[in-house]
Amino acid sequence: MVPRSLSRLLPQSTKRVVRETVQRYRVRMAVQRLLKLPRGHAPAPVLLRALRRAWGDEGYSANLAYLQEVARHAAAAEGPILECGSGLTTILLGVLAARHGVVVHTVEHSAEWHRRVAQVLRTYGITGVRLHLAPLLDRGSFVWYDVPKDVWPAEFRLVVCDGPPGDMKGGRYGLLPLVGARLPPGSVVLLDDATRQSEIAALRRWRGEREFRQRVYEGPDWAYAVLTLGRR
Ligand SMILES: C[S@@+](CC[C@H](N)C(=O)[O-])C[C@H]1O[C@@H](n2cnc3c(N)ncnc32)[C@H](O)[C@@H]1O
Repeated sequence: MVPRSLSRLLPQSTKRVVRETVQRYRVRMAVQRLLKLPRGHAPAPVLLRALRRAWGDEGYSANLAYLQEVARHAAAAEGPILECGSGLTTILLGVLAARHGVVVHTVEHSAEWHRRVAQVLRTYGITGVRLHLAPLLDRGSFVWYDVPKDVWPAEFRLVVCDGPPGDMKGGRYGLLPLVGARLPPGSVVLLDDATRQSEIAALRRWRGEREFRQRVYEGPDWAYAVLTLGRR
């Protein structure tokens, strides 16, 4: 880092370049440590914390507990994964699952964010994630991604459900009506922000449409749910 006395003399534009260079370096270091993990091994919390801090999108990116859950499932995954909402979790899925031949499809509604995440994946040599730009479509009582079903596998075993953003109509409800037929019994949905009003409502609606077991994990400022789906 630039010493504080020197930093005061630098113009804002130079400071920004320095900040971004340091950030890229830190992400690269964390990704390199992830890439060294043998197949099937999930990263330790200390590495996930370093990756999260380096990534720097703390208002939006998943909290540490959810990242750990995603990493555990991604490392152990044996079937196709669907991710809704891209970012830090996409890096994890790319390194821990797609790199080992597990099919990973990610849908992202924001063109700008899609460009940014695609660029990050290229920069760090993370190949294998199919990152789809999928705008949100209004479907009456909810909005959900315009999903590229023609290129999707017949089934997903795991869903990392961290989008669309909660202020969209229906929150994350659209997953089950639109993808439920591709989620076999035993498949798992990792639902972030599970105690937010929009997600509580989505869970209530899902209850009326599909059997599932549910465990909610909560901290002072985070919550997520692990759903194991039953019969279709
Ligand atoms: C909760 S975020 C998904 C975060 C992702 N799973 C992660 O761990 O980084 C849901 C959506 O917010 C949007 N988003 C993420 N970061 C953003 C940012 N810095 N500014 C604006 N929108 C952002 C993206 O469209 C993303 O799909």
